[in-house]
Amino acid sequence: MNQERQRLICRFLIIIFIRMLKGKKILLAVTGSIAAYKAPLIVRLLVKEGAEVKVVMTPAAKDFVTPLTLSTVSKNPVIAELFSEDSWSNHVELGSWADLMLVAPLSANTLAKMANGFCDNMLLATYLSARCPVVVAPAMDEDMWKHPSTKRNLGKLEETGNTIIPVGNGELASGLFGEGRMAEPENILKFISDHFFLKQDLAGKKVLVTAGPTYEPIDPVRFIGNHSSGKMGIALCEELAKRGADVQLVLGPTTSVIKQNGVKVQKVQTADEMYEACINGFKEADIAIMSAAVADYKPAQKAQEKIKKDAANLNVELVKTKDILKTLGERKYNGQLLVGFALETTNERENAINKLKSKNADLIVLNSLNDEGAGFGHDTNKITIFEKGGHEIQYDRKPKQQVAKDIVDRIVNMLHG
Ligand code: CTP
Repeated sequence: MNQERQRLICRFLIIIFIRMLKGKKILLAVTGSIAAYKAPLIVRLLVKEGAEVKVVMTPAAKDFVTPLTLSTVSKNPVIAELFSEDSWSNHVELGSWADLMLVAPLSANTLAKMANGFCDNMLLATYLSARCPVVVAPAMDEDMWKHPSTKRNLGKLEETGNTIIPVGNGELASGLFGEGRMAEPENILKFISDHFFLKQDLAGKKVLVTAGPTYEPIDPVRFIGNHSSGKMGIALCEELAKRGADVQLVLGPTTSVIKQNGVKVQKVQTADEMYEACINGFKEADIAIMSAAVADYKPAQKAQEKIKKDAANLNVELVKTKDILKTLGERKYNGQLLVGFALETTNERENAINKLKSKNADLIVLNSLNDEGAGFGHDTNKITIFEKGGHEIQYDRKPKQQVAKDIVDRIVNMLHG
């Protein structure tokens, strides 16, 4: 393919990416950095692509760009103060209005405050109330950008589920050249379309997901269970639904909740109930992802009444539960894609590869309890993916939302590959 044609296709794809912003509600948060002079351009580009834009700014940002400019280009009043003489600005309403909060530019000062939960202006109050994803475009001089405090604060921001748009390299406000420039407005638009609004690459696909623990009753008040929170499976459902899939979640007992619309949830308690729900759901599914921590054993009998502590010892006979993933692997027909998890404490790699084969899965996600911040209860996870065909990919520790994105990317790749 000649270069001109390649360039045209690339431009066409960028235009399609950006069109995905039509009708989206974007809250632009502007902080006190010299790059704030580019904020009106960001607003203009967003509005041009059909997005609805509101702007919130810090008091310091007003030294770099005027609220009047921003309200003119956004066609909405700009909010800069928590209180004025006779009114109070509703940060909660603003935070729940937005589909995406974009902090651009993000100064070192606001970064530090966001990372540490400070709330001394309207922008920070809105950030703390935001229910939508938050993405930040840092802008600062190279020395500030490379300072360990900045790195630490960025790490904290990322760990709490925010997304960071990489900085550019070039001329800085100080006149020096280096790292720390805010990404260009066109690239910011491309980044947010790509990461938040683009991929409907699972439209029309039915996905069955299991998550959470199962509880196996011993008597009416006691059970055998585990520490699974279901957060990983829930993050997967949210990512799948965002990408257009029709998602059915079979969820064991957990207090974790789903924030994304469009996921059908069937609540179950026991491994047997989860098994029944999955056998039914799998018939219709294109993809099944078994992320639940299913109990491997259950009491042979459930006592009808509460067991009294009369005896010195109590032996509860346990019998194996049915292996849902394995059963689905046996029933899988051509074109169905089956994903399992492996939670290991020893011989992690070997065990994961064995599970891939013995359960006839297409992909196994390994998490080891030996890795810090991985496994049950954490908001982060560290995984390795093993694919049928021998492909193996190791990932860094990340928030579960981003881990979910990595897993779904590999699933899509397998579907199309
Ligand atoms: N799994 C399942 N049904 C079960 C047990 C496990 O569907 N009764 C699924 C899990 O959801 C996971 C995979 O099997 O996707 C592996 O689970 P894991 O607990 O790591 O391994 P087990 O197969 O239970 O084997 P072991 O506990 O001996 O490692």
